[in-house]
Amino acid sequence: MSDSPTLPTTLRGYERAARERLDQATAAYFFGAAGDGQTAQRNLSDLAEVQIFPRHLREIKGGGTRCTMLGQNLDAPIIVAPMAAQQLLHSQGETATAAAATAQGCGMVLSTQSNVPMENVRAEGPNARTFQLYWQGRDATLALAQRATDAGFQSLVLTVDAPVNGVRDEEIASGFQFPASLPFPNLAAQPPQFAPLTGTESAIFERIAYVMPTWDDVAWLCRHAPLPVLPKGIMHPGDVALEQDAGAAGLIVSNHGGRVLDGVPSSISALPAIRQTAGADFPVLFDGGIRRGVDIFRAIALGADAVLIGRPVLFGLAVGGALGVSHVLRLLRDELEITMALAGCRTLGDITRDCVRVPDGFIPY
Ligand SMILES: Cc1cc2nc3c(=O)[nH]c(=O)nc-3n(C[C@H](O)[C@H](O)[C@H](O)COP(=O)(O)O)c2cc1C
Repeated sequence: MSDSPTLPTTLRGYERAARERLDQATAAYFFGAAGDGQTAQRNLSDLAEVQIFPRHLREIKGGGTRCTMLGQNLDAPIIVAPMAAQQLLHSQGETATAAAATAQGCGMVLSTQSNVPMENVRAEGPNARTFQLYWQGRDATLALAQRATDAGFQSLVLTVDAPVNGVRDEEIASGFQFPASLPFPNLAAQPPQFAPLTGTESAIFERIAYVMPTWDDVAWLCRHAPLPVLPKGIMHPGDVALEQDAGAAGLIVSNHGGRVLDGVPSSISALPAIRQTAGADFPVLFDGGIRRGVDIFRAIALGADAVLIGRPVLFGLAVGGALGVSHVLRLLRDELEITMALAGCRTLGDITRDCVRVPDGFIPY
């Protein structure tokens, strides 16, 4: 008889088990979406609409999923997305996630809003080599970039799609708040404190807008940061040239899993146009709605070099800590390999645009 806990066998099973374990407010924060959840839902349903054209009887001996992303060798083109406050799901928080990503030969982007100091995460999970920044003003952002460099990170992600919080009804209704005791040891500075609003003053346009970053700030960071910078949250092909001109080392197509602005198109529907605009050799990563290995195949066929996995990692963490995250990543890896074998693709380079059919409604390119 084995002592190991019985783990779910699918990502859906992990989601069910995670929801059973969490109270309503915590589940609303981790698994909820903005507004009416239309964008979050579209991320899933549009991926499902991308149909795969298999080619049979091809030689696939000696193939595999290995790749090099931003100078890092990975066993699969799978990277854990930056996600905040993981100690609310498991006492080891981001350390468990990084250890699991490392065990599975996957990458990890560590969130600025991690509950574990970035140095400790790197020590336990050396595959966590990318650090995510939220803009905190030039000096504080650069100081954090320098600290990440000293801790051994090799690239930076600058999240550009969430300068203010989205409207997250479920969270508001459930009264979710971070407990006062929850540590955020990587935040370079306290968020700016504003005096109370008066009269009809606008919190967004007359206060927060003055601390929101612009493309000039991105260019400044790319010039001064010791590591390559990748903006995360690019959805419009028109932003690609701006970020290439700013000196970015790549980009991440993402709508933040539908957690920020509801009504945005699915991220998969934006991916082909963004790849087309970015050119063949520019690093393009993708996230939003990946729940199966077949979704990774779809994203690669439409132009992604690698994918980031969001909520499923949190399902694994809530259910089984490092073991749960490791199993979730393993399931995705195995499913990607099976999809490649059944579609006749020996390597990631064989997963090309003509392996899939794209539905009407994707952003034209
Ligand atoms: C609970 C939660 C916290 C998140 N925190 C961050 C964050 O700190 N920084 C960031 O850039 N993105 C954050 N994201 C967005 C993810 O990085 C990613 O873009 C998104 O989850 C991908 O969609 P998926 O969950 O459908 O895979 C968060 C997402 C979730 C679900």
